[in-house]
This record gives sequence, C-alpha cells and structure tokens, in this order.
Amino acid sequence: MKDNIISSPIVPNISLKLEISIYFYYTSGAIVLAIFLHLPTLHQNAKKYIQDLHMPLRIPGLPNNFTADDYPYELDSESDEFKIMLESVKTMTKSVAIIVNTFDAIEGKALEPLNKRMIIPNGTTPTMFSIGPLITSSYGGDENGCLRWLDLQPSKSFVFLSFGSMVRFPKAQLKEIALGLEKSKQRFLWIVRSELDLEDLSPEEFLKRTKENGMVVRNWAPQGAILSHDSTDGFVTHYGWNSVLQAVRGGVPMVAGPLYAEQSLNKVILVEEMKVALELNKSKDGFVSGIELGGQIKELMDSCKGNESKQMIFKTKISSKEARDQNGSLFLI
Ligand SMILES: *[C@@H]1O[C@H](CO)[C@@H](O)[C@H](O)[C@H]1NC(C)=O
Ligand SMILES: *[C@@H]1O[C@H](CO)[C@@H](O)[C@H](O)[C@H]1NC(C)=O
Ligand SMILES: *[C@@H]1O[C@H](CO)[C@@H](O)[C@H](O)[C@H]1NC(C)=O
Ligand SMILES: *[C@@H]1O[C@H](CO)[C@@H](O)[C@H](O)[C@H]1NC(C)=O
Ligand SMILES: *[C@@H]1O[C@H](CO)[C@@H](O)[C@H](O)[C@H]1NC(C)=O
Repeated sequence: MKDNIISSPIVPNISLKLEISIYFYYTSGAIVLAIFLHLPTLHQNAKKYIQDLHMPLRIPGLPNNFTADDYPYELDSESDEFKIMLESVKTMTKSVAIIVNTFDAIEGKALEPLNKRMIIPNGTTPTMFSIGPLITSSYGGDENGCLRWLDLQPSKSFVFLSFGSMVRFPKAQLKEIALGLEKSKQRFLWIVRSELDLEDLSPEEFLKRTKENGMVVRNWAPQGAILSHDSTDGFVTHYGWNSVLQAVRGGVPMVAGPLYAEQSLNKVILVEEMKVALELNKSKDGFVSGIELGGQIKELMDSCKGNESKQMIFKTKISSKEARDQNGSLFLI
C-alpha cells in the first residue's frame, strides 16, 4: 500500500477503492477544522433544517455560546454545497491522519478535543498532526520599494495595513481607511488592492499630506518580510490564517476585523483567548469607520491595552519558534 499526500478537502472515493492511504492537509486552523468535522453530528441531531438551530452547540474546544448561526458554511441540508461538505467530512474521517497548520500554543484549546477524539462521537477521528506554523515564504522582490522604505524607519515605529489578496474594498471603505490613518497620526505602510486611481480613492491631498509619514503601495508587497522587519509595530488586517501565522512569527500585534465568516472564529482565538489583537467594530452600514480605525490603531500603538497585546504576541512568537524547532507539536495517538 502506497501513502500519498493529497491536499484537497475533496478527495475522490477512488483513492479508498484503490487502497491508497489518505492524509489530509488542512490549511486553516484547528478551530475551523473542529466545526467542519462536527457537521455530520450536527446534521444527524438536527430534526429540521440545521440552520434553524439556535441553541448553543457545545462543541468541545469552542466557545460555549457557539450556535449553528455562527457556522461559516451553507447549512441548508438540501443544498449542493452542504451535501459536498458532508461528503468531504466523511472522506476526511476515513483518512489515516489530518495534518493541520497550527500549533499548541495558539490553538491548544481546540486541539485537545480533536486529539482526544471528542469531536466525532463514533471514534472515527483520524490521528491529528499539528505541524504549524507553516508559512508561505515571501516570493518576488521589492519592486515597490517597501523594504527599502522600511529600512529607513526607526525600530518598532509603524503600522502595516494589508487585507489579503482576495479583497477589493469599495471606494467608500478605502476613504475611511485613509481618514483613519490620518487620524491615528502614526507612520504607516498601506497595501491597496484596487484598479482605481489612488488619488481618486483617498480624501483630497491625502497622499501629499501623509508623504512624510506613510507609504501607499498598490496591489502587492512582500508581506512575510514586512511582518518580520524590525520597524513593524502593528498590523491591520483581516483574520486570514496565513496572515495571522506571519504576524505571530514576526511578533506583530494586530488590529483586525473579520471579512469572511471563517475569520470570526479566528477572532475568538486572537482577541478573546490570546489577547494579541484588538477588534475593529463595523458601523451599521457594514464599513469600518475612519474614527474606529484611527482610534484602534492609536490604542494598539500607544496604550496599556496595546502594550499588553505586544507582550502577549512576543510570548507567542517564542512559542511559535519552539514549535518550528520541534518540527511542529506532533500528537501521535
Ligand atoms: C455513528 O454510528 C452509527 C452506527 O454505526 C451511525 O448510524 C451514525 O451515522 C454515526 N454517526 C456519525 C455522526 O457518524
Ligand atoms: C460569546 O462569548 C464570548 C466570550 O466568550 C463573547 O465575547 C461573545 O460576544 C459571545 N457571543 C455571542 C454571540 O453572544
Ligand atoms: C460596535 O458597534 C455597534 C454599532 O454598530 C455598537 O452598538 C457597539 O457598542 C460597538 N461596540 C464597541 C465595543 O465599540
Ligand atoms: C507602552 O510601552 C512603551 C514602551 O515600553 C512605553 O514607552 C509606553 O509608555 C507604554 N504606554 C502605556 C500607555 O503604558
Ligand atoms: C526537525 O527536522 C529537521 C529536518 O528534517 C531535522 O534535522 C531535525 O532534527 C528535526 N528536529 C527535531 C526536534 O525533531
């Protein structure tokens, strides 16, 4: 029997028929994996449509108040999306092991029930290997001159803003970010993903007024290298898992707001459990206002709470280095 590593969550049943052992590589964290593996149980317990369940689900390792409403997935059990997910989980539970990109010091609470096989009641949970933090290495060069700019900044002096490669904010949100940056009076490096003209996106003369203190770069920058740079002191971001792991490795505390559903679970870990991030509150119109953003950046860069986040992320950085030196916190059952 030959062992193969298969990286997609949708593994054709054919591998089972051929008796090829399956190892899943799960790129998100353990808390998201836990709720994914819980889906068949949820499906079985639901008397009607799952999304009608508003009671706390009490999934081990998750917040006590987590309900089906908090699920980041389509839960209509008649939908194709749900059926595919259910199939995926069933195939996953037949695998030899699941490899997760996380480590004990950040997700111990979610990992323990997975390792103790408490998530799938029938005892079909595969062995878990938490091998994180695995971080995509920076690729590409410094075409935009960010790293050159960073080298000229004092140690621990500026805040970095980047929201992942998938996100295109509407113009109104970009203007609020610009307002917030000016309000915070902090040095900044802002990666803007947009096809629109930068002058057009920001308040009048924003680029000119902030030239001394800030750098705005369009579309791409070597994020991993920036987060590991000595001048970087704060990171404004979504809770994308890769970005979070890069921030942890660099020891950079975060100001963050979830953009996609899965990210609100990552928020639980980073804001509530680890206290390495401050949360961005959205206004009623669904945007983060300039006042909110500016206030939270100032809070992070200069307040007791901000200092506490810095201390906490520094500890986590050390734990992440230890996990890497040990080639991950492997659990063998
Ligand atoms: C648990 O096992 C029973 C009996 O084998 C089966 O009917 C049921 O579908 C299983 N539940 C889950 C969540 O896999
Ligand atoms: C769930 O509990 C956490 C504290 O553990 C709290 O911060 C959060 O607001 C609660 N969520 C809801 C929807 O009540
Ligand atoms: C977040 O915003 C809502 C309004 O959208 C407000 O009611 C709430 O008090 C705010 N929370 C914090 C912590 O600022
Ligand atoms: C935060 O820490 C810095 C550096 O240690 C210190 O200079 C500053 O006074 C602290 N701010 C607050 C509000 O505690
Ligand atoms: C981690 O992996 C490297 C490369 O395979 C190996 O040289 C090293 O001994 C391993 N460290 C531990 C603690 O197992």
